Amino acid sequence: MLPYFPFGQRYNDKMGTTPLLESDRLVEIDANYVADVTLKRQLLKELPDYYYQALPGNVTAQWEVLDLVLQNLARVSPESFSLRQDGTCWHWKNHLLDEETTFMFGDETTLPLEPLDWVGRQVQEDLILLAGDDATLVAGQLCFANDWSLDEKIGLSFWEIHAPITSIVEPMLRAAQTFMARLPIGRPVWRTNWSVKISNQLDMTSRHTPALKQQLIEQLPTLTPDTIGEQLYVRIERQTLTRLPHSGAVLFGIHTYQNRLADEAADPERAYRMARVFSTTPTAMLDYKNMTAFMPALQMYLGSRQSSVDSH
Ligand code: HEM
Repeated sequence: MLPYFPFGQRYNDKMGTTPLLESDRLVEIDANYVADVTLKRQLLKELPDYYYQALPGNVTAQWEVLDLVLQNLARVSPESFSLRQDGTCWHWKNHLLDEETTFMFGDETTLPLEPLDWVGRQVQEDLILLAGDDATLVAGQLCFANDWSLDEKIGLSFWEIHAPITSIVEPMLRAAQTFMARLPIGRPVWRTNWSVKISNQLDMTSRHTPALKQQLIEQLPTLTPDTIGEQLYVRIERQTLTRLPHSGAVLFGIHTYQNRLADEAADPERAYRMARVFSTTPTAMLDYKNMTAFMPALQMYLGSRQSSVDSH
């Protein structure tokens, strides 16, 4: 089952940000850790400039991300990670991958990669850096994006990143823009985003968009209420936003979780809540999420799964 299930009684047009507590994980380790990190490293090896990009002048922020992520991992998962700091000499042990790294904090020549690129390979999250008053995307390691890529968004402000902005999400994004500009140091937040996909491949960066659209067109005739549960996947992003204390940049972390629709809908309460949210989601948003074509079959399917919660 998905660890986050952001479906309530109806479509939510609010930002949905919640404080990230001191005890919460900034980055999360799940059962797919080794497979996901291995895939990430493979993608970065094949197309390094597609999956990692950094504009000049953000080295301080990159070290801050490395610092935050390593400290957080070592604190919340001491059985899997350990960090020893002898002055500026740091010793990092990743027990899950059986790797050890020693480097001088702040000295890039002692790491094999730029700090953000290196630390991104320790976690399942995509890590994005935004800087300046308009929250410009200045650096990122982005392997598991849902339908976007660094090529398209690097150098763009928060507002431009979200363009074209439809009238349904405009109020939410105006609030989010102000929120981003004012996010205080030491008060990180998290939120979730959902979609329903035809594939469970993690890498849905935009270079795969044409193939995924084609796959949907080809599978569409077979997406009936009887089969759709086995063919679709619920994809959830757990997103965190953290203001970095020295550079003032914002770290945007994205952990992608997914599960087969049938596994989620096996719980009648979950089936009911998905049906409620999808039936109240504006048409333009369903179009944007590429869900319109299978919506009738999906709703019939969810209707057949929720009989035991009719009392709602
Ligand atoms: C509170 C913060 C944020 C809110 C409320 C927000 C909201 C949204 C909404 C409503 C959508 C479109 C619909 C959907 O999938 O639900 C979206 C898409 C997107 N968001 Fe955000 N977002 C936030 C932060 C960010 C940040 C920091 C980035 C930085 C890269 C970002 C990048 C994107 C991208 C790339 C898309 C897809 C746009 C496209 O289709 O090209 N978002 N966001």
